Amino acid sequence: GIAHDLNNILTVISGNIGLAQLEAPVEEKNLLGCLAKASQAAQEAAHMSSQLLTFSKGGSPVKKIVRMSELLAKSAHFSLHGSNLRAEMNIPPDLWPTEVDPTQIEQVINALMINAREAMPSGGTVDISARNIELDDKPGALLPGGRYIKVAIADDGGGVPVDMATKIFDPYFTTKPVSSGLGLSISFSIVKKHGGMLHLEQSSPVGAVFSFYLPAARAEPAVVKTVAGSGLPSTLQRILVMDDEEGIRELTSQLLNTLGYEVTAVTDGVEAVNTYERAMRRGEHFQAVILDATIRGGMGGLATISRLRNIDPSVVAIICSGYSDEAALAEFLQYGFRGALPKPFTRRDLADVLQRAVMTSKTEPAFVR
Ligand SMILES: Nc1ncnc2c1ncn2[C@@H]1O[C@H](COP(=O)(O)OP(=O)(O)O)[C@@H](O)[C@H]1O
Ligand SMILES: [Mg+2]
Repeated sequence: GIAHDLNNILTVISGNIGLAQLEAPVEEKNLLGCLAKASQAAQEAAHMSSQLLTFSKGGSPVKKIVRMSELLAKSAHFSLHGSNLRAEMNIPPDLWPTEVDPTQIEQVINALMINAREAMPSGGTVDISARNIELDDKPGALLPGGRYIKVAIADDGGGVPVDMATKIFDPYFTTKPVSSGLGLSISFSIVKKHGGMLHLEQSSPVGAVFSFYLPAARAEPAVVKTVAGSGLPSTLQRILVMDDEEGIRELTSQLLNTLGYEVTAVTDGVEAVNTYERAMRRGEHFQAVILDATIRGGMGGLATISRLRNIDPSVVAIICSGYSDEAALAEFLQYGFRGALPKPFTRRDLADVLQRAVMTSKTEPAFVR
């Protein structure tokens, strides 16, 4: 769709700005300054277009039975970290589980928390509460009858003025000097796609309350075993990189080296499988493999992971692809990938995706269809 084309165009724009930065002589301070600004703007645009992709694609959400209390705690920690805000949690232990795409619902909670944080620049309290609620089937009601969980996030900021209450869910509506205005509109469609509803429940000059409903699930969440001390081990970590383009292989290897990883790079799936197997036999396990999704004239990422999983069911694989949208990512996760690395990526992206993939592999079983 349009959002996807836009993303590709932005990739070309920022890629070429990057090249121009390399070509420009160091003494051209003004020129380099302009390029740096252009590059930053292109990156912001790319970020916005990837957010749009999240819901424009409709996507196949990866649904799991989750405990909302865990998502809320995680998000509170993440969004309020380093702020002068306090989180007040009020969640009953018998809260019904719900079946959602945790990544998407986390995005919703984060968006609400960040709004609360931005509404209270000089500090305050965010009240996070959840409860079970049974709705009757009423004609014309916003939600069909049934069992739901209701989550409310309340702040004591300035609230939403009455005349604005209908506009805040519009895409790009913002009252902030530099902000996308997409937070609430994306959150609204994510919750709706899950069969729920998000609204501004209450607002006054002493604060706003946003709440959302999600259908309750019957099953209990699978028991997750947590491994103590999930930090990265201090021993040297080996990474296997597969890509058919020499430039990408070299770049990835160099970046990984600067992150302290030891790298073996191969050109296609067959070579990747052989290399992995040989290393295993020597007891020199690869901590992670980064697989390019499409290999011209060779075995690509999907075929490779299924072979690797046969050899080692606990393989930590990351898919690298030109697709940065959630729908494609969701697809990949179903094949057992632990993470996705959209091209183009930075050193930071690489570090983050690896750390997260290795960490989740210790706490959660892979999701394979
Ligand atoms: N907790 C809140 N308190 C006061 N106003 C809010 C709150 N949350 C959202 N708003 C208003 O709704 C607008 C849209 O929010 P959002 O879609 O998240 O976009 P953004 O945060 O980028 O402005 C905000 O600019 C702000 O005016
Ligand atoms: Mg926002």
